[in-house]
Amino acid sequence: MAHPTLFITGSSKPLHGSIEVRGAKNDILKGLAASLLVSGKVAYTNIPHIEDVDRTLELLESLGVSVHSDGARKMTVDASHINGHILRRDIAEQMRASIVLAGPVLARKGRVRFPFPGGCVLGKRPIDLFMNGWRAMGARVRMIGDEYEFSARKLKGADITFYKVSVTGTEAMMLTAVLAHGTTVLRNAALEPEIPHLADFLNASGARIVGAGTPTITIEGTGGQLLKGGATFETLPDRIEAGSFAALVAARGGKVKITHCNPEHLAVPIEILREIGVRVTTGKDFMIVERAGKLKPIDIIKTREYPGFPTDLQAPFAIIMTQAHGASLIFETIFEGRMVFIDDLNRMGAYITMCDPHRILVNGPTELQGRRMESPDIRAGLAFVIAAAIAKGHTILEGIYKIDRGYEKIEQRLRRIGVDIGRKKS
Ligand code: EPZ
Repeated sequence: MAHPTLFITGSSKPLHGSIEVRGAKNDILKGLAASLLVSGKVAYTNIPHIEDVDRTLELLESLGVSVHSDGARKMTVDASHINGHILRRDIAEQMRASIVLAGPVLARKGRVRFPFPGGCVLGKRPIDLFMNGWRAMGARVRMIGDEYEFSARKLKGADITFYKVSVTGTEAMMLTAVLAHGTTVLRNAALEPEIPHLADFLNASGARIVGAGTPTITIEGTGGQLLKGGATFETLPDRIEAGSFAALVAARGGKVKITHCNPEHLAVPIEILREIGVRVTTGKDFMIVERAGKLKPIDIIKTREYPGFPTDLQAPFAIIMTQAHGASLIFETIFEGRMVFIDDLNRMGAYITMCDPHRILVNGPTELQGRRMESPDIRAGLAFVIAAAIAKGHTILEGIYKIDRGYEKIEQRLRRIGVDIGRKKS
């Protein structure tokens, strides 16, 4: 079978023009899961054309949900009748976000079965927080082979404290609690913008959720009554895509307007860019990133839960720091296995020292050289595209399904701002 690859020829020519940001994978996937709580039609807009959306729709359809495309970036989903409780193994074990479908299916069907959810390999990524939450709400778990089956005749509200902050953990418990009997309180909840956005959509459909976007979320369950259709879920712009485009401009130089984004969701990355000598001006839904002179190093970039510096931008920002004049420390605090991508960068000519599994020291400036590489995961995959775009010579990037999982036709948009990039089926 032919596997597509990206061909990139690097350059130091300044980038120019404007580039549009698409809807966020990590917003739409949770929005699609929410359709399972609704009787009636739900409209979705600003949908990115990415592999993970297609896989999630296939999962929903296998449960009996009907999906209707309403043209470019729009669709209607109707989950009034669902007839299954098993999440398709081939999809669920490739996609971590599949776990957010489990709670709604459990609430609707009294049971749900799924494999250990896969996805990008960033470390262990256990599911104990989900298991603790569902158990607290009265579900029992048994293993069928290596799959989990949770069952509960009636889900009851519970007081749940997350011992660590989890994005999908918060979303999954919020989605589960909506149809439960009684009130659920989630403590030490994640604050990512996708969470209040999901809560706003659920509330517009008749749910009663208070506090989303703060560490304590209270959900008054409907006691099994499905929410009403009619609301629209407008996918948030992808803050990680926007931040990665900004990283590309910072690393290569030039002046680019990044449109259809929300700079408020990127306050810390923007501040870091300014700190190292990049000019960033922002409007309500755009930002202009300009870099002409030398880049300065920075003491530390430390990943943190929102509103801190996002772990998903750690690899793209590591590429910028290879071009700064001095040494910069990057400290990954969320995942324990997310820095392995540096081996490939060092093979390109970067000078990055791993201090321990959580910290790297990036020494710059270094001239990168294009080579044949494989995309390790969605976010580091795009970071490799950035590295290739500033390197000397040609890069062939394989394994780009991982990039297509989260970014829509990336080469077409990057070409418009001056990156020499193409896709080949080889
Ligand atoms: C979400 O993953 C995103 N994925 C990730 O984006 C993102 O990197 C991450 O949040 C952090 O922002 C989706 O939204 C689909 P976590 P998630 O649970 O929810 C540990 C991408 O490329 N943990 O907030 O899985 C976990 O191992 C991806 O789009 C437990 O210990 O991340 C990590 O150390 C990559 N037990 C920490 O919590 C659990 O039960 C935070 O992870 C759950 C998580």
